[in-house]
Amino acid sequence: MKDELKYGTVSSEQAMELESGYGAHNYHPLPVVIAKGEGPFVWDPEGNRYFDFLSAYSAVNQGHCHPYIVDALYKQAKELTLTSRAFYNNKLGEFEKFITEYFGFEMVLMMNTGAEGVETAMKLTRKWGYEKKGIPENKAKIVFCENNFHGRTIAIISASNDESCRENFGPFLSNIERVPYDDADALEKILEEQGEEICAFFVEPIQGEAGVHVPKDGYLKKCHDLCKKHNVLFVADEIQTGIARTGKLSACDYEGVKPDVMILGKALSGGVLPVSAVLSSKEIMLVIKPGQHGSTYGGFPLACAVAKAALEVVRDENLAEKSFKLGEIVRKELHNINSDRITTIRGKGLLNAIVIEPRDGLQAWDICVKLKEHGVLCKPTHGHIIRLAPPLVIKEDELMEALGIMKKVIEGLDK
Ligand SMILES: Cc1ncc(COP(=O)(O)O)c(C=O)c1O
Repeated sequence: MKDELKYGTVSSEQAMELESGYGAHNYHPLPVVIAKGEGPFVWDPEGNRYFDFLSAYSAVNQGHCHPYIVDALYKQAKELTLTSRAFYNNKLGEFEKFITEYFGFEMVLMMNTGAEGVETAMKLTRKWGYEKKGIPENKAKIVFCENNFHGRTIAIISASNDESCRENFGPFLSNIERVPYDDADALEKILEEQGEEICAFFVEPIQGEAGVHVPKDGYLKKCHDLCKKHNVLFVADEIQTGIARTGKLSACDYEGVKPDVMILGKALSGGVLPVSAVLSSKEIMLVIKPGQHGSTYGGFPLACAVAKAALEVVRDENLAEKSFKLGEIVRKELHNINSDRITTIRGKGLLNAIVIEPRDGLQAWDICVKLKEHGVLCKPTHGHIIRLAPPLVIKEDELMEALGIMKKVIEGLDK
């Protein structure tokens, strides 16, 4: 068996059995095992090549194993990896200057996973609410949107209305309010009624996990203006939409909105390490004092070197412009698929979705399995939505090849 393997030491079948036998069943992966990645492509242990149209949920915007980022990893790994924040290190400050200038903020707080970034922003905005806005003790409220996805910690799922991810994990955090997404009037109403106790409004500029929901033009700007009016912090979770994924550096850039707090993760390291960041102003960030928040790895030297390289790649390879241009092609080509199963095509840049009508026993999952058999990896979100998010480094002819496969597979469902 081993002789037939092209990559690694276990076959696809063995790898799936091992995960299922020894790992918690907290995910339901598509039945494909990835053993190697390069640019927009991945290969299974047997050497079959696939287009990666998920990019690790938009973490691999720069493409798999980008040589410039991997070089930065090697170089730094030989020099210094981790110091903790008990001491200064010679990489963190330099990177903090770089990332704040890159995104146009005054200060940053580095963490590791996206969820930690969101938790950090929740703590930061509550503390600001008490110390700067003057909200009475333990009264601070945060407003989230319905159908949000901000991660999986207890605080974050307290804000979720997805019952399957909350079941038997209670009790939850109090003082969380939810308003419908893409409904600035609903936000206005709650701010008018309870604004004095609200410290922040958390929003995804495009709801990714919910199925790539693109709000109406002007929604973010309206929400931002309402927050200003009520002295409430506007917090953009750009963990999935940021770093060029939607055709601009940040999805908020489409409406010229500068959030009070912006959270980044995922592609901040190009898929090499978990690195997240919370960006804000001095006035807000400095409410956190030594010892009040942190993480042993947060902003570790290896992460700083990798994230700097990852952001340089986005800038030097014009990935935002590329994503914008290729996104137009994706939506145009998807509209050319002749299938009445497709009800909607939506997205911005290279974050897109096909909404299908599940019928004849075929759900989005089954279509993804068929696509996989033809060499394209996508993951369904909910039963009827297929998200398409290839690495932004994909070339136009490669993109056309993958879209051609999709057309053939989807049109073939009814033949
Ligand atoms: C918008 C958004 N916020 C937060 C997260 C959580 O990030 P992580 O999985 O790194 O904790 C995700 C992950 O998909 C996300 O899409």
